Amino acid sequence: MPQITFYKHAPIPLEMHKVRIVQKLNLLPTSQRLQKIKDSGYNTFQLHNSDIFLDMLTDSGVNAMSDDMESAMLRADDAYAGSESYFRMEKKLQELFGIQYCLPAHQGRACENILATRFVKPGNCVIMNYHFTTAKAHITRVGGRVEELVKDEGLVSQSNLPFKGNIDLEKLEACILKETPANVPFVRLEAGTNLIGGQPVSYENMKAATDICKKHGVLTVLDASLLQDNLYFMKTREEGMANKTVREITRMVADLFDIIYFSARKFGFARGGVILVRDRELYYSMEDLIPMFEGFLTYGGMSVREIEAMTVGFEESMDMNIISQGPQFVGYCVKALDDYGVPVITPGGGLGAHLDASRFVGYIPQEAYPAGALVCALYICGGIRGMERGTLSEERNADGSERMASMELVRLAFPRRVFTLSQTEYVIDRVKWIYDHRELIGGLRFVHEPKTLRFFTGVLEPIGDWPDKLAEAYQAEFGRDQ
Ligand code: F0G
Repeated sequence: MPQITFYKHAPIPLEMHKVRIVQKLNLLPTSQRLQKIKDSGYNTFQLHNSDIFLDMLTDSGVNAMSDDMESAMLRADDAYAGSESYFRMEKKLQELFGIQYCLPAHQGRACENILATRFVKPGNCVIMNYHFTTAKAHITRVGGRVEELVKDEGLVSQSNLPFKGNIDLEKLEACILKETPANVPFVRLEAGTNLIGGQPVSYENMKAATDICKKHGVLTVLDASLLQDNLYFMKTREEGMANKTVREITRMVADLFDIIYFSARKFGFARGGVILVRDRELYYSMEDLIPMFEGFLTYGGMSVREIEAMTVGFEESMDMNIISQGPQFVGYCVKALDDYGVPVITPGGGLGAHLDASRFVGYIPQEAYPAGALVCALYICGGIRGMERGTLSEERNADGSERMASMELVRLAFPRRVFTLSQTEYVIDRVKWIYDHRELIGGLRFVHEPKTLRFFTGVLEPIGDWPDKLAEAYQAEFGRDQ
C-alpha cells in the first residue's frame, strides 16, 4: 500500500484492492459460543469454521486470492508427469530466486520432513534463529536436536527494534565450533520469525550468518514461508534498501542460501510447498524422497490448479502494494492495542498481532497455559479465533516435565486482504474489553494430551468455572445476542 496522506482523517492503511467475492459470517450468541468451546475441548483448532465470526487462527492457506490467481487456475494442465503448470512454476521460481533445482511438496512441513529425513542423523544439532513447531518436530523425530540462537532482544516483548528475528552471530559461531561442523547438518534461518511474533531478520544479519556457515562448511537453509513480510520490512526498515526493488532484495537474499524452502500456503498465497536447491548433487540426493512421500516430481502432492495460482502469487509477492497490506494492518492493530495499554508484542511484525499473555494474565502459571486460556476467552467474548503460541504449543521434556515456552503469545493472524478495517476495529474493541476484565480468566489443564504437536488435537478443561463467569460478564455488557 502506498503511503496515501489524508486531508482531515488520521493516517490509516488504505487498501489497494477491491472485494469482489464475499463469504457470509456467523456471530453466534455468547451462550452458544460457550457451549462450542466446551465441545471443542477448549482447543480452538477443534472449532467448526461456521461457529466462528472472525477466524484469525492463521494466515496459512486462507489468504484472499487475486482475480489473476483465480483465472490462472483455469489453464491448469493435469498430468501425472510433465505438467506444463509445474514447468511454469519452476521457471518463475528460477527467475525470482536464481536457483536452478526445484522439488515440489504438498505443504511446508512436507519440505521439513524431506530435509530432516535427508540431512539429520541421531545426535545432530540443527541451529536456528528460532524454531517453528513442525520444523522442530521433524528434526527431533529423526533423533536430532534444535539449538535456538535468536538474539536476546528478540524475546523482549516491548521494543522498538526493527529486526527482532536476527540470530546471535557470536553464539552461532561458538555453537558450530562446540558441536563441530560435522555435527551440524544445516543452519536454518526463518524469515518473518513466526513464533516470536512474526519478527523479521535483516539482510545484514542473514549475510553475516551465512558467511559464518560458509567459513565452516555448514549448509545454509532459509525457511521463506513468511518471506513476503520480511521483504516488506527489509525495504521499509533496513538502511540502504529503500531504493532497491522487492525483486532485487529477493535475489540478494536468495543468493545467500544453499537451500530455500517454503510453505506456499503462505508465500504465494495458495496451498503447497517447494524446496529450492542450488547444487545438483544435493538435489539428486533428495529427489527420490519426493515420489516416495509426496507425489511425482512435477506435482509433489499439490493440485496443478494450486500450482498455477501460486505461480501468479509469487509474482504478486514482488509488488509492494500487495505485500504491504498484512504488515500495515498488523501495525495498525498493534498500535491501537498498545495505545490502550494492552500488552502486545512491539514493534508489530508480519503475520498477525501478538498478545503477550504472560503480562495479560500474568497470574496464571505457565503450566496452566495462560495463552491457551486467553485464546478461549477471545472466542467466548467476541467469536474471534486466535492461536495459542506458548507452552501449550511446546512438547514435554523427555522426563515428562513441562517445557516452558520462552514467550506466551496469543496470535491474531491477519490472513492477507481478508479482513476490513472495521473488523480490525471490532477485534481491538473486544480485546480491550477482555483486558479490562482479565481477572475473570483462569487456567486450563489437559484431559487428553497427545505426545506430539499436542496443541492440534489435545482436549482441555478449565480450572474452575471461569468461562461461565466470563460469559456472564460479557452478556451483562453487550446483551445476549452478541
Ligand atoms: N515454516 C513456517 C515459518 C511456518 O509458519 C509454517 C506454517 C511452516 C513452516 C509449515 O508449513 O503449514 O504449509 O506445513 N505455519 C502455519 C501457521 C501452520 O499457522 O503459522 P505448512
